[in-house]
Amino acid sequence: MKVQLYVPDGRYDPWIEGFAEALPEAECVTWEQSQGQPVDYAVVWRPPVEMLRGRTDLKAVFNLGAGVDGILQLRDADPEALPASVPIVRLDDAGMGAQMVEYVTHAVLRYFRRMDEFAAQQRAGTWKFLKPNRRADFTIGVMGIGTLGAQIARALASFGFPVRGWSRSARSVEGVECHAGEQGQAAFLDGLRVLVNVLPLTPETENIIDGGLLARLAKGAYLINVARGPHVVDEDLLAAVQQGQIAGATLDVFRKEPLPADHPFWQEPRITITPHIAALTLREDSIAQIADKIRALQAGRPIAGVVDLQRGY
Ligand SMILES: NC(=O)c1ccc[n+]([C@@H]2O[C@H](COP(=O)([O-])OP(=O)(O)OC[C@H]3O[C@@H](n4cnc5c(N)ncnc54)[C@H](OP(=O)(O)O)[C@@H]3O)[C@@H](O)[C@H]2O)c1
Repeated sequence: MKVQLYVPDGRYDPWIEGFAEALPEAECVTWEQSQGQPVDYAVVWRPPVEMLRGRTDLKAVFNLGAGVDGILQLRDADPEALPASVPIVRLDDAGMGAQMVEYVTHAVLRYFRRMDEFAAQQRAGTWKFLKPNRRADFTIGVMGIGTLGAQIARALASFGFPVRGWSRSARSVEGVECHAGEQGQAAFLDGLRVLVNVLPLTPETENIIDGGLLARLAKGAYLINVARGPHVVDEDLLAAVQQGQIAGATLDVFRKEPLPADHPFWQEPRITITPHIAALTLREDSIAQIADKIRALQAGRPIAGVVDLQRGY
């Protein structure tokens, strides 16, 4: 059995060593070494379209991330890129859930405890009491309560915040008020103090965070985006921050990454920028998960995390 790898930084050695250990029955080859040869499985992150074009040899493509928008966009642009019969498999948590919980909880507590304002006071040499927020007034909404979002929602609820969740189909998460679908969106958004975005990027969710959506949140709300840049209409967010509708935003993902040096987000002190690090792909966890799934597929057993092409995630 052959497994073909593609990672954009070309640092293959640790991946090949990891697969050799976790899946010794497979021969692991790089895309560059094995172009044109048939293989059984591909393991990829942001692959070039040539790697997927006409690949009827593949039994599955494993994506080294939870979001598969990069692969699906290649297919939209070039219908020959990856036959529809080849399943695309995303990472299911693989150590990302804990990182997401840390990132989002940190941002929420920073806002809740007014830490940015205390930091500004310190810079001005000011010792001054600021009225604390009340937990009961600090309702948090998590858009997308799938693998990662459900863990974030549960963690925030454990601090005693009122937490709402929103998904496409009806879900239930302990301690979280769940809403679903377009008909549930207004009740989900109404008066939120913090909106956390963990949706997949699909044609339905692109540009979802626009001026209209931000206006439904409480005045002076916060936005935390850990999903994908194109979920947010940048100009609308900037306008909402400048008008005070949004008091602050923590953004980990952007339409163009790295965020261009002349993007106005860099100049807006109420926007916190991190370089797409909310939840990193952990090599060992990812290899272990993919190796288990390859063994299951070889044995004819079903696996979790197969992307539904209709839904787009
Ligand atoms: N910044 C980072 O470092 C980083 C790292 C990892 C992942 N991510 C992003 O996080 C995203 C989510 O990952 P995940 O593993 O949690 O995905 P997931 O398990 O597929 O969960 C997605 C959630 O979004 C909901 N959803 C999808 N489309 C919707 C729509 N049109 N309306 C309402 N709800 C909708 C789904 O609803 P149902 O429950 O009804 O299906 C589900 O609850 C990824 O796609 C990726 O873009 C970012």
